[in-house]
Formats: sequence, structure tokens, C-alpha cells
Amino acid sequence: MQINILIVDDIKANLIALEALLETIDENYNIIQANSGSEALEFALNEKIDLIILDIQMPDMDGFEVAQLLKSNKETSDIPVIFLTAAFKSDEWIKKGFKLGAVDYLTKPIDENQFINRIALYTKLIKLVEDNRNKDRVLFESSKMVSMGEMIGNIAHQWRQPLSVISTGATGLQMQKEYGLLTDEVFEETCSMIDKNAQYLSKTIDDFRNFIKGDRVKEVFSLKEDIDSFLHLVEGSIKKHNINMVVDVSDDIKINGYANELTQCFINIFNNAKDVLDNIDEENRYIFISAFCEDGGTSQKRGQSVIIKIKDSGSGIPDDVIKKVFEPYFTTKHQSQGTGLGLHMTYNLVVTGMQGKITVENETYEYEGKEYTGAQFFIELPIS
Ligand SMILES: Nc1ncnc2c1ncn2[C@@H]1O[C@H](COP(=O)(O)OP(=O)(O)OP(=O)(O)O)[C@@H](O)[C@H]1O
Ligand SMILES: [Mg+2]
Repeated sequence: MQINILIVDDIKANLIALEALLETIDENYNIIQANSGSEALEFALNEKIDLIILDIQMPDMDGFEVAQLLKSNKETSDIPVIFLTAAFKSDEWIKKGFKLGAVDYLTKPIDENQFINRIALYTKLIKLVEDNRNKDRVLFESSKMVSMGEMIGNIAHQWRQPLSVISTGATGLQMQKEYGLLTDEVFEETCSMIDKNAQYLSKTIDDFRNFIKGDRVKEVFSLKEDIDSFLHLVEGSIKKHNINMVVDVSDDIKINGYANELTQCFINIFNNAKDVLDNIDEENRYIFISAFCEDGGTSQKRGQSVIIKIKDSGSGIPDDVIKKVFEPYFTTKHQSQGTGLGLHMTYNLVVTGMQGKITVENETYEYEGKEYTGAQFFIELPIS
């Protein structure tokens, strides 16, 4: 990975000296020079900058101002800034520099050894962070592939039933016509049934395509609709595993976030519940989904966050396991069955992606006069 270092100084000679010094640390650094604060901001916004070494005393815009502007912009706020100054050496200025978020404050004349060691350390850290980010990205993609594979299986399962309805309907029409038994009524009925099933198939494909396309636009969407498309995607599994779904979500709950990613979270949580429910008697297999607002009500007031509760009747998560379920690669399943990424991914999508919260606990509860125990997930999502 190449490290892009932006050096900012209004005096050209300083830039040249600094560049020469940096090149002694690593000749592969890509060094970009800026002669003023505004030029620095422009570079920071338009290029991928990994580290900024910033002079303080400059005409027009001084280094402090530049740092402040960098911090206030979401796109540049994470770039580490090092102040390098000959003039502002007092404690008061150093304090101010760190307060503005600088990672370091160095003074001139430069102590070369100190400078070299520190820059080498920072770039090592930057590389480490970047490596981790790349790993996360790969992890995400592979996790998405896993659930895509699972979903194709789901869809195949889901399609079997309507396809067989369509095909039986069509051959039935042919036969009845051949024997002269076809009435107008049967004809109408069968055609509308075929049409209904074909539309259902097409809806499944739309849901699937929307999911894969994954247009990442933050938007306000209806939670109920999101849950409906999730249910659509897992309908095959629900039937195959004889799971009773109890969904209680009011139509008017809105969420500000990424609809597709929330669908993915539901699928991940559902898949885990499905696995544990396989060990439970068929008539006791339940998944409950409900949602309410911060104040406990089901109709949302402006700016209120939403809490989604998903619980199963799979007898819960053992105490030593529950602490680790969101960790990457943590699984209690056989290698061929689980990668341990489902809930880690869900955590990232909710917490990092949508500034929400997710927690899990075991819950013993009563439903229709019977007692059940299971895992209960809470997802809290802000509305704005
Ligand atoms: N509803 C649940 N009931 C009981 N245990 C659960 C439940 N959900 C998750 N777990 C436990 O948490 C572990 C981690 O779940 P996670 O979804 O992250 O990974 P996984 O299901 O093992 O693998 P993957 O989802 O990547 O295929 C599971 O292996 C399981 O032991
Ligand atoms: Mg899982």
C-alpha cells in the first residue's frame, strides 16, 4: 500500500527539505506539497491523503484553521494531522494543537531521529488500519456471498410451490378443454390463479435483485415493508422448517437507514433461529418480530428511534456463548454449517452502518398459555 503524505508550508524551501527527509524514511512515500492552507484543504478533499504534516504560521489561513476545517468535514476528519512549527513552541500552543485533534506536535529545528521514528511509526499504524479495513471488506463480501447462496436455495424452494400450481393449472385447462368440460368459470379462475402465482414469482425476483444490487442510499423507509420483503425471501425456509412466524409491526413505523442491509440483518438473525429451532418440536417453533418506539408506543413521533425485537423459542444461547456472538468468526457450528460471520456482519450493519444499537439476551416468556425460552435480539435504529 502506498502512503500519501500531504506536506503544507508556505515556504518552498521548507517543503523541499521536508520531502527530502521523508524520503530517507521510505522512498515509496507519495509526497504531495501544498503552499497554503486552502491548497491543503483542496488536496485533502480530492485526493486520498493518509497523513498531513502541517506548518502553523502561514499567511491567509494558518495551520490551526486548516486543522479545524479538516476536522469539521466528515470526509477529512479522520486524516491524522501533525503540526510542525518553528514559531508556536509554547505549551499553550501545543495544547491548542492537540485540542484540535493533532496526533503530534513537532517543533523546528527538526530533531531528525525523533522525526524519522515517529513518522515511521505513524505510517506503520496507518498501514495496519488500512489492512484491517481491507480484511473487513473481504469478510463482508464473503459473508454476503454465503447468505446469497443460502437465499438462492431459499428462492429455489420458494418457487417450487407456485411453479407447480402454474403447471398443474395449465395442464388442467388443456385436459378439460380436450374433454369438452371447460366452463367459463373454471377458465377464469384458473387463469387468475396462474397470474397471481406468476406475479408472486416476479416479486421474489425483484426482492432478490434489489437485495443484490445493494444501492447504498440512506433513505426513510417503512419498517413493515422491509419486514415483508425479508419474509418473502425466507418464505421457503419458514415452510420447510415448519416455523411459526408471529409478526406485529405497525404500518407507520419509519426508519432512516439502508433498507437492504436491514433485510440482510433480519435474514442473518432468522438463519440462526432456524438452526436452533430444528432441535425443537415442530409445534413449538416460533419466531416473534415486533417493533415499538422509544416511548414504548407503536405510533412514531417525530425524531423517535425505533426498537425492533426478534425472539425465538429455540431455548436460548448458552451463557459462555452469548458474550461472543457478535465477534467475527465466532461460531459453535460445524465448519460446513457456519462461518461465524452472520452476527458480526449484522452488528456492523446496524452499529457502524446505521448508527444503531444491537444487543441480545435470553428470555423466558409465555405465549398462548405455554412457556418458551429463546434468544431475543434488540435492534435500535435512529429515525434521523
Ligand atoms: N437464536 C440463537 N439461539 C441460540 N444460539 C444462537 C442464536 N443466534 C446465534 N447463536 C449462536 O451464536 C453463534 C454465532 O452466530 P453467527 O450468526 O455470528 O455465526 P454462525 O451462525 O455460527 O455462522 P454464519 O452465520 O456465519 O453462517 C452461533 O454459532 C450460535 O452458537
Ligand atoms: Mg449465523
